[in-house]
Amino acid sequence: MNLVSYYKDRAKEYEKIYSKPERQDDLQNASIYLQHVFADKNVLEIACGTGYWTERIAASASSIFATDVNESVIDVAKRKIIPNQNVSFGVADIYNFNAINKYESLFGGFIMSHIKMQDIDKFLMTINNLVYPRGKIVFMDNNFVEGSNLPITNTDEEGNTFQTRKLEDGSIHLVLKNFHSENFLRLKLNGIADEVKFIKLKYYWILEYNNL
Ligand SMILES: C[S@@+](CC[C@H](N)C(=O)[O-])C[C@H]1O[C@@H](n2cnc3c(N)ncnc32)[C@H](O)[C@@H]1O
Repeated sequence: MNLVSYYKDRAKEYEKIYSKPERQDDLQNASIYLQHVFADKNVLEIACGTGYWTERIAASASSIFATDVNESVIDVAKRKIIPNQNVSFGVADIYNFNAINKYESLFGGFIMSHIKMQDIDKFLMTINNLVYPRGKIVFMDNNFVEGSNLPITNTDEEGNTFQTRKLEDGSIHLVLKNFHSENFLRLKLNGIADEVKFIKLKYYWILEYNNL
């Protein structure tokens, strides 16, 4: 089973990950940060999943077009009540995005860790192409914290790491999950971004930059 079908099957139980007690302060601080960055912006959200961050960013953004390759997660996201009514949803694969216009800003939560090391350059080029020059791009993802994250059970020749995960139906999945360092991310953005900021929380990092 691949990553896309894993998240299709995980849709109903996905947000349990946001209930971990030790992560609540970080989640609150990240929400405040993202609301500040995206205040009054029109945002394209990729890989929005069940809309946890969509809901939070919608509190300050002008509009969000929230997209994911899996309809099952979008169905969960659509059930959230978003007071400002400034969110629209679409099913879209990052790599086959049918964008008529470029976007003012882009957010991708917890997708970078699921991109293979050897595909990161292509991924970043794809993302930057969706956003206007000088537009704001933000990614958020996990730091590896022993005891809070599942252990890494496999590593391949390219340095990709994998976790063995169990869904509530008992099925077991080997899932690609890379934990990137600030240095690695800054290196990857060399020449394609400026005003790069890296915010390191305990459980998460946030990477913010301007498209060139
Ligand atoms: C770890 S979840 C993150 C969900 C959400 N952004 C969050 O932070 O709660 C990763 C999401 O990426 C989506 N995804 C995986 N491959 C994708 C692709 N090629 N294009 C768009 N979405 C993709 C999955 O369906 C899943 O919802």
